Amino acid sequence: MSLVSSEVMLKTTTGYSGLQIGLHWLIAILIVTAWFTGEGAGEAMETIEEGGVAGFVPHVAIGLAILAFVVLRVLVRLGRGAPAAPGAPGSLSVTAADWGHRLLYLMMIAVPIGGLSTFFQLADVGEIHGLAANALMIVILGHALMALYHQYVLKDGLLRRMMKAG
Ligand code: HEM
Repeated sequence: MSLVSSEVMLKTTTGYSGLQIGLHWLIAILIVTAWFTGEGAGEAMETIEEGGVAGFVPHVAIGLAILAFVVLRVLVRLGRGAPAAPGAPGSLSVTAADWGHRLLYLMMIAVPIGGLSTFFQLADVGEIHGLAANALMIVILGHALMALYHQYVLKDGLLRRMMKAG
């Protein structure tokens, strides 16, 4: 069964677990940090290409950590499930939220894999990695704005679901 199959990804619970909440915010911090440290990795790549030694590259270490935490997060998500998005089942807003979350999971896996493949010279997809990272930041911005819209305009307490285990 595929990762995005509705039966698997829509297993519903009454709330997120402490582990799910912890991973959500830890990964969020790591992704933002990775985005801001990307330039350093570009410079390290140039050093390597010129025959030099790059030493410790924070962006690469963060990328590896993101990948490990996201794999763990997906496994927890598949095993435990998540609360249903607020709204009528099958409505446009619920469908958009479900697909938006799937897109986030896909990009959270694909972007670090692309970066690591480039750094460890398994595939030269550095440029695509940079563009995909920017696209991920835009999707994240939309996701955060939607969360804030739910919390402060619709006032349905959505943000609390990612703050307190339930
Ligand atoms: C790097 C940044 C972020 C990423 C990658 C991310 C990713 C995700 C994903 C994949 C989910 C779905 C969880 C699931 O049901 O399996 C989720 C849920 C959620 N996120 Fe984020 N998120 C990020 C930042 C934020 C920020 C900044 C906010 C708040 C402003 C936020 C608020 C929420 C809330 C409230 C939920 C729960 C939605 C619900 O219960 O339907 N996230 N996030």
